[in-house]
Order: sequence, then C-alpha cells, then structure tokens
Amino acid sequence: MYPFLFRVVLSRMDPETAHHAGMAVIRMLGLPALSWAPRALTKPDPSLRTRALGLKFDSPFGVAAGFDKNVTGAQGLWALGFGHVEVGTVTAIPQDGNPRPRLFRLIADRAVVNRMGFNNRGADAAAKRLTSLRRRSKRAVLGVNIGKSRVVDVEDATADYVRSATRLAPLADYLVVNVSSPNTPGLRGLQAVETLRPLLEAVLAAAGATPLLVKIAPDLDDDEVLAIAALAVDAGLAGIIATNTTISREGLTTPDDVVAAAGAGGLSGAPLKKRALEVLRLVRSAVPAEFCVISAGGVETAADVRERQAAGADLVQGYSAFLYRGPLWARQINRGLLGR
Ligand SMILES: Cc1cc2nc3c(=O)[nH]c(=O)nc-3n(C[C@H](O)[C@H](O)[C@H](O)COP(=O)(O)O)c2cc1C
Repeated sequence: MYPFLFRVVLSRMDPETAHHAGMAVIRMLGLPALSWAPRALTKPDPSLRTRALGLKFDSPFGVAAGFDKNVTGAQGLWALGFGHVEVGTVTAIPQDGNPRPRLFRLIADRAVVNRMGFNNRGADAAAKRLTSLRRRSKRAVLGVNIGKSRVVDVEDATADYVRSATRLAPLADYLVVNVSSPNTPGLRGLQAVETLRPLLEAVLAAAGATPLLVKIAPDLDDDEVLAIAALAVDAGLAGIIATNTTISREGLTTPDDVVAAAGAGGLSGAPLKKRALEVLRLVRSAVPAEFCVISAGGVETAADVRERQAAGADLVQGYSAFLYRGPLWARQINRGLLGR
C-alpha cells in the first residue's frame, strides 16, 4: 500500500510539503484518544526492551533528529513503534532556516539531500511542548538535540548552547550537542578538539544530571573521530551519536544533473550506510563498554540494525528510510529484530 502511495502521490509532491502532510497524520495518531489504536498494532515485543544511558527503551530503534524539530510528533512516533524520539535540532533563538526548496529526494539512491538550516520555533517553545509531553504516562524516551542559533557568531556558540541546555536539559531524557550539521555556517568547525572541549564542558555543567551526548559528522577523518571519542570520554559525556549527514556525493547512481540541481546540503540514506558503520566501529574501539554509542546513517532494515548492534551500537536511529518505507517502518524493524 505505502509503495503505491509513495510512487503515485508522495514522490510527485514537494518533499517538504509531503513531510508536513505526514506530520499532520503522525500528530493525529498521537492524540490521547487515538494513540492506543496504532500502538496496539506496533507495540514492540517485550524482548526488545533495551537499557542505555540509565534509561529504559521499548526498542533499540528510534527516530533521528530533524524529523520532529518542534516536538509536535513525538507521541505519534511512539504510537508507530519507535523506542525513542530525538527532537530538534532546537536553537535558543527561533529561526526560519534556509529558503525553500531545501529538501530533495534522490530516489534511485534511496537518499535525501537537505539544507533545512535548523528551522525551529526555539528553545522556549520546545520547553512548553516537552513539559506537556512528559505528563503522558506512556511515551517514547525523549532525546533533545540542540544546535547553534544562526544569528549568534561561532565565537559565541558556547553561551548559546548553554542557554538551550539550561532551558531544555531538565525536560529531556538525554541531551545532544549537535556540532555536525553541514547547513549552519561554521558549525562543523566546532568539532575541532580544542574548540569542542570547552563547549562540551560548559554544556555538561548546564545539563546537570541529564545524560549528554555529542553528534558527529561522517566527514571527519578517522583520527578526528578517535580524538573526539577520547575527548567525550575524558570530559565525562554519556555517549556519542554517529553520524549526521555527509557533504560527500560519491558513489551515487542518481544522474549528476539531478544531484547538482539539489545543490548544497547534507546527504543521508542508503549511501551513508558504509561510512556510518565505519565511524561506529572507530568510536566503539575508542570508548569503554559502558559509554553509549548511538548509530545513525543509512539504516533501512532490521538486518542493518542488527549489524550496528554487532558493531557495538547500544541504540540505532533512522530518518531517511522512513520517507521510502512509510508509517509501518518501525514496526517492520521491530518485528525483524525478533527473528534473531
Ligand atoms: C531532512 C533532514 C533533516 C535533518 N535535520 C537534522 C537536525 O536538525 N539535527 C540533526 O542532528 N540531524 C538532522 N538530520 C540528520 C539525521 O538525524 C541523521 O543523522 C541522518 O539523516 C542519517 O540518518 P539516515 O540516513 O537514517 O537519514 C536531518 C536529516 C534529514 C534527512
């Protein structure tokens, strides 16, 4: 049913408009009077319960950041079977993001290019929504991913992240410092160890008891990945998320002119699979067993999730394949994981 809907309707719609239409349905599924029905269909088997970051997850598989930027869909995503939802990226100051179009499908590659630019309603609005969401007795684990406000200079990034962390950490099950989006000028430069250390130490102090993770890019070279992993452990972080989208366009089957027409932005989906797995292995080789590693990038099937777990991932996230596989994607993965 979904492949037909995708081919005939969704793939002909502007991708961002299709996303908003999907979110409207997801929001509806999350309404208290309705969410029990999809949840009955998608509830992960108890054997999939996973412990990480001192938290209990119904499934090791969750939604990566960027899907629910404004904390409007988390309850619907839980009703669809995801074990956690990482909301955001949220910035301290509300912002519109880049001009549209800014989201593109590369269908032949089962990939997506985006240059959204952290469009979001800001930390105060996110805090209000998180406050009401946390009152729900049944919900997904809620990660909150924070980024730098575009109007703030890179030199002043620490204070801006601390502002978001102070507001949002008390309402998050875990907090993520995003220094790896390619769509905010200068942001990825914050991954340099000498810049990252003071930033992480300041956010760690603001986060209090909330577990703090850092999300890294797949475009770092191997030594940089190892250096950040060592820094994260040394600074006292709870984990690393690997990876964000890539600026590489290597190995695509989509015609060059279509790729060029999409323009700048982060590439995600199937082409990211290989590097995301490599970065996961590198990170896991450099951190202690109790340090949480979350893998994201090109995950499409339960076999992919299993492969990440075998490579040392405590939790696994996905985004792009949701567009191609549809609303029952988490359920398919959770069921596939049972076949171990
Ligand atoms: C449209 C879109 C928007 C995204 N926005 C964010 C974001 O705001 N913050 C973030 O940390 N990652 C963001 N990401 C990256 C995803 O969280 C994830 O790391 C990446 O897409 C790799 O996973 P995937 O191959 O399963 O999509 C975004 C990805 C997409 C496709």
